[in-house]
Amino acid sequence: MNYVHGHTPEESIRLVKQAKPLEKLFHEDLSFLPGQKVLEAGCGVGGQTLLLAQNWPDTEFVSIDIQESFIEQAKLRIQEANLKNVRFKHADIMALPFEKESFDHIYVCFVLEHLTDPLEALLNLKSVLKNGGSITIIEGDHDLFCCHPKYEDARRVVDCLTALQASHGGNALIGRQLYPLVKKAAFSRLSVTPKLMYVDASRPDLVEEFSKITFIGMIEEIKDQALAHNLIDLEEWQKGIDALYRSTEADGTLCYTYFKAHAFK
Ligand SMILES: C[S@@+](CC[C@H](N)C(=O)[O-])C[C@H]1O[C@@H](n2cnc3c(N)ncnc32)[C@H](O)[C@@H]1O
Repeated sequence: MNYVHGHTPEESIRLVKQAKPLEKLFHEDLSFLPGQKVLEAGCGVGGQTLLLAQNWPDTEFVSIDIQESFIEQAKLRIQEANLKNVRFKHADIMALPFEKESFDHIYVCFVLEHLTDPLEALLNLKSVLKNGGSITIIEGDHDLFCCHPKYEDARRVVDCLTALQASHGGNALIGRQLYPLVKKAAFSRLSVTPKLMYVDASRPDLVEEFSKITFIGMIEEIKDQALAHNLIDLEEWQKGIDALYRSTEADGTLCYTYFKAHAFK
């Protein structure tokens, strides 16, 4: 798999740090019963895993990822937190090593956007979900980013990530497509909720953790690839990054919309 953000230490740190500011937005309407078995597909370095396992200590999580080095880091994170309710497995969503109908729930966060065949992935996941079980899918949509002031300059560098991800076979605009995609996989009682992250200077914690680390950090990571693919020149790139940081100042704002789908088998 050609992961657009790479497998660098910086990406690991970003993935872990982004989980916390997004926790309320993503987890406030989740609920698992004690004893339920949940598959976390594409757990990365365990940023979401840690929060899930801490918040639902009586739920059994099985967290998989295709990238072995990510799994090792996730394992360490869970061990350090002394959590006993997560089992990790190095596995591909496209070739799941589980019996059919093994899980009560499946949790997928920021994964479908990186896959060339997200529908096939959903059908695979559905096969290991129990009848009556449910799935949660969270994805972003980079077109639904805006900031103030200097939006146009910032837009150009964000668009580089969208183009780059498409060239890797992914889709950074998948959020808006979740409803038809999940419907096509024939899940029932499907609902999709937009989850808006809005940041201004009245929330310095979010300026730091979301605007700077999560969002701008994600864009900064692709600088070399964007330049190498001639998506932008160095001057425009720097103007765009400066514009993003400008939105973190006292009179700046930044806004992004995620989509959360919930459905049953
Ligand atoms: C953006 S990261 C998200 C990680 C985690 N869900 C989070 O929100 O922090 C996407 C993850 O999906 C994993 N992934 C991509 N394709 C996969 C596949 N076919 N099977 C399993 N994991 C996959 C990547 O290795 C990466 O760790």
